[in-house]
Amino acid sequence: MKIAVLNQKGGSGKTTVSIHLAHAFSMIGYRVLLVDTDPQGSTRDWAAARNGEAPFSVIGLDRPILHKELPKLAQGYDFVFIDGAPRVSDLTRSAIMAVDFVLVPVQPSPLDVWAVHEVVELVQEATIYKPDLTAAFLINRKIANTALGREVTEVLGEYPFPVLKAQISQRVAFAECLNIGSTVLEAAPKSAASDEVRAVVEEILEAREETNHGRS
Ligand SMILES: Nc1ncnc2c1ncn2[C@@H]1O[C@H](COP(=O)(O)OP(=O)(O)OP(=O)(O)O)[C@@H](O)[C@H]1O
Ligand SMILES: [Mg+2]
Repeated sequence: MKIAVLNQKGGSGKTTVSIHLAHAFSMIGYRVLLVDTDPQGSTRDWAAARNGEAPFSVIGLDRPILHKELPKLAQGYDFVFIDGAPRVSDLTRSAIMAVDFVLVPVQPSPLDVWAVHEVVELVQEATIYKPDLTAAFLINRKIANTALGREVTEVLGEYPFPVLKAQISQRVAFAECLNIGSTVLEAAPKSAASDEVRAVVEEILEAREETNHGRS
């Protein structure tokens, strides 16, 4: 399965979510490739800051040729994650054309939810060529124990993609771990932060099951 983590809005959590999901899937035994499409190379920096080898493969490819190159690069992997680049729409388009599923991390603030229309439009454009393409929103940086604002729920509810039930909270541990080339899964496997990441994994696997059944 190929998953692009995309949002044109900078700082929505694409890199944080991609690295944590790539790690979580590799920890349960899947062979995982993470493709860094951000010219800033945040994921490559993460791998370089790491003490020892990354638990999954990381490559950089920041030109809009992903849709052509990915089938070859993905050989031998069970899951491929694409860490999207902010703003550059030709990279985002290329990533969308390369995958089966687009995950859109979004911070639960009005400014952030209004900005998702850009990536939603790009996904909708692509479904003309890829009718089986699916997408979902993932709330990231939720303030623990607060309800999502009415505005956030309303705006996201207007789009044709579901919002995952699993959500990622605002927790310093996510940022601290990435800075040292680690993840919460390894630094604090029993933490609430790790539970949140694993809940996202479960939901993606369930969605994949449903799609596969639908096709068979
Ligand atoms: N759940 C979280 N809790 C705390 N901090 C977070 C969380 N998610 C992201 N951050 C922090 O927010 C900032 C932006 O996150 P990140 O780099 O993952 O976003 P991005 O979408 O990849 O950004 P860019 O668009 O620049 O590539 C980082 O400093 C990161 O550590
Ligand atoms: Mg990033």
